[in-house]
Amino acid sequence: MTQAPLPPKPLPRPDKVSLWRYFRLFRSDILSAQPARLYRAWMAEFRTPFFHSYLCNDPELVDLVLQKRPRDFPKSDRIREGLAPLLGNSVFITNGPVWERQRRIIDPAFEGGRLRDTFPAMWDAGIACVERLRARADGQPIEIEAETSHAAADVIFRTLFSIPIENAVAAAAFSEFRAHQKAQPIVNLGALLALPKWVPRFHSRKTRRTAATIRGLITELTAARMTQIKAGTAPNDLATKIMTTPDPVTGDTFDTAEMVDQVAIFFLAGHETSASALGWSLYLLALFPDWGDRLAAEAEAVIGPEIPYFSIINRLKQARAVFREAMRLYPPVPMMVREASCPEHFRDRDLPKGAQIVISPWHLHRHERLWERPDEFDPDRFATANGKACLRNAYIPFSTGQRVCPGAAFAMAEGPLMLAMIARAFRIAPVAGRAAMPVAHLTVRGRDGIWLALTPR
Ligand code: HEM
Repeated sequence: MTQAPLPPKPLPRPDKVSLWRYFRLFRSDILSAQPARLYRAWMAEFRTPFFHSYLCNDPELVDLVLQKRPRDFPKSDRIREGLAPLLGNSVFITNGPVWERQRRIIDPAFEGGRLRDTFPAMWDAGIACVERLRARADGQPIEIEAETSHAAADVIFRTLFSIPIENAVAAAAFSEFRAHQKAQPIVNLGALLALPKWVPRFHSRKTRRTAATIRGLITELTAARMTQIKAGTAPNDLATKIMTTPDPVTGDTFDTAEMVDQVAIFFLAGHETSASALGWSLYLLALFPDWGDRLAAEAEAVIGPEIPYFSIINRLKQARAVFREAMRLYPPVPMMVREASCPEHFRDRDLPKGAQIVISPWHLHRHERLWERPDEFDPDRFATANGKACLRNAYIPFSTGQRVCPGAAFAMAEGPLMLAMIARAFRIAPVAGRAAMPVAHLTVRGRDGIWLALTPR
């Protein structure tokens, strides 16, 4: 019997390396900077002259930090400073009462009923994505991350502002965003963490310029929407919902400037992550073509020839299982950082106030003492006792607790839908000599992209 291939996983570093090598590894790729023992450890400590951090893999500690006492473990300042030029004062990086107010206004827009309303926009984005791919599905290599980014950005613009990615302002924001990432290639968690705290976060002139351009474009969209809301002509989409929802405590709504910060994070968090998850899901279908066939058959049976309704999402069970398993193996947000606001005692260690606490979906999702066959691709695992137990206590692609991703349900509708639509339309194969290798930028991406060959079914 031939063994199924294992999905790619970065080689860990040796247990002992020089501080200099560690520092360089850490800044370039936080995943391969870690030793193999982290896939078995419950907790680990990293001490260098510049940072002192603790990685928590024990589900009880993860629960304590994210669910039970989140107020004692706010988001780390280091991350906020690194992302500030683009994100301003957005919900992703604020803490305390400012953050609480922002979530009170944002959360209702992502509730179940509202999600149903976004389905037609997601469906249209899926059709447009399949059409773009069809024009290139001749068996030649395609770098699929660029395609999934395009599709995910399209979903965000259609659901938020009722405009497709072809709209001039949306297209300009998307292409500036790419320039922004190129100007700031080291924006990854390792780089943000590894700098000594007293070093101010310098942002290159290009980084500041591209961030300002993106924010300018978003301001254009947001100001125009504010005018439409006042005139009573605004479309019924997520932007209108968020901009007209009063804070249930104070009764006030976001002004244009506050909304710009939030739109910046919806754009960043909503398209980078979904693009990463969809890219890896498609790569896994290429490595495991039987699953591609299963998804195609399911999509054929569920979707049918007519424009479907939101209810199909619940029936795309295999697509959901594949998407879920892809996010287990390649969590788009591989690590999250919190700061201890008072001294703590975790397992047998004393943590000083200000300690950086790293919660790593990457390691938790592949933990050898929690998951059966952690490095294997097996979407059926979630139906087993071990899979169900781990889903509850060792699976956090969207984080958990009060700072859980507000877009989780949105992403779990968009991802499986897109995956099903693409699998129905194409056979997907890997490209010889271009195996993908994960690397942590802001999200988990292919070191040299993710290359696939598509042919029409
Ligand atoms: C597969 C797709 C997605 C994944 C894996 C994902 C994952 C996450 C994770 C892990 C966090 C917590 C980060 C931390 O605590 O440091 C987060 C926060 C956030 N996500 Fe998502 N996300 C996804 C899609 C979306 C979408 C579609 C939206 C909006 C349209 C969105 C909006 C946000 C926002 C606003 C936050 C900040 C919440 C807060 O700090 O209170 N995300 N996401």
